[in-house]
Amino acid sequence: MKKIKKAVFPVAGMGTRFLPATKANPKEMLPVVDKPLIQYAAEEAVAAGIDTLIFVTGRNKRSIEDHFDTAYEMERELEARGKEKMLEILRGILPSSVKCVFIRQSEALGLGHAVLCARPVVNDEPFAVILADDLINFSEKPCLSQMVEVFNYQHCSILGTQVVPKEDVSSYGIVDGTEVKPGLMEVNGIVEKPDVKDAPSTTAVVGRYILTPRIFELLEETERGAGNEIQLTDAIAALLSEQRVLSYNFEGRRFDCGSKLGYLQAQVEFALEHHEVADEFRQYLKELDFLGEDKVVKMASKKRRAK
Ligand code: UTP
Repeated sequence: MKKIKKAVFPVAGMGTRFLPATKANPKEMLPVVDKPLIQYAAEEAVAAGIDTLIFVTGRNKRSIEDHFDTAYEMERELEARGKEKMLEILRGILPSSVKCVFIRQSEALGLGHAVLCARPVVNDEPFAVILADDLINFSEKPCLSQMVEVFNYQHCSILGTQVVPKEDVSSYGIVDGTEVKPGLMEVNGIVEKPDVKDAPSTTAVVGRYILTPRIFELLEETERGAGNEIQLTDAIAALLSEQRVLSYNFEGRRFDCGSKLGYLQAQVEFALEHHEVADEFRQYLKELDFLGEDKVVKMASKKRRAK
């Protein structure tokens, strides 16, 4: 089986939950501390051995292309001013061996349709899909690296999953599965945004997938489903009847940065681990007395000591 070398980033959604910030900018360009969400996602892909990043963009594509492109003028300016450190940050956004490909999804017909748009570049290989608005913090290994490891010995499609509170199941694709070993399930069924009473479990698919290329043929045949969109979940449900699909409960803390609350939580937790601002920011929170006790202090300093 081929190695996972390509990752698809669907970034053509409307981002309505984040209006007006997403009126002229994709939500994937929202920064958490000092990096846009899409950069965290690209770094996660590169760490997992991906060498081709495929961005499926929509009407507000410019800023994402610019972010991953060389900024000659800015580089020259920083060089002239002797700002070496800033220059390093600017040039280090992606390793030079990594290729970026941009594909336009002319109409926002859904996540499934966005993935299908990447078919001409992915071709006949297994590939990863990363939804950058699901930002995943980790202590040992990034989420996609964990999933690629599972893929390398299971050789089948893998859905990144987390157990969610019962009352939240209606916001996710929910998996019905049989445990293979702790954290790993053979998927028997998947339903998009079920009612609490109909949900087969509380294991929810979040924004990380490894898929075999058969998914493209199934997406071609997938009719519009929930929300009148072509749903990736529906094509995965069809894939299940032909191929083995696993769900994997990855280790890491996930923030739904497509929602305001998740985004704010990510800001706070990433700031508390950021080498430049952590100490002062923690002090600031303490002064505001938001937290009351020293929980955050302990959490952040433990993590930084481990680095
Ligand atoms: P969401 O379900 O989060 O939708 O899409 P959205 O439009 O981005 O956000 P809201 O709900 O209106 O606030 C899941 C992922 O699929 C991408 C989005 O960019 C996001 O990464 N997507 C969605 C596309 O690329 N194209 C689409 O047609 C729909």
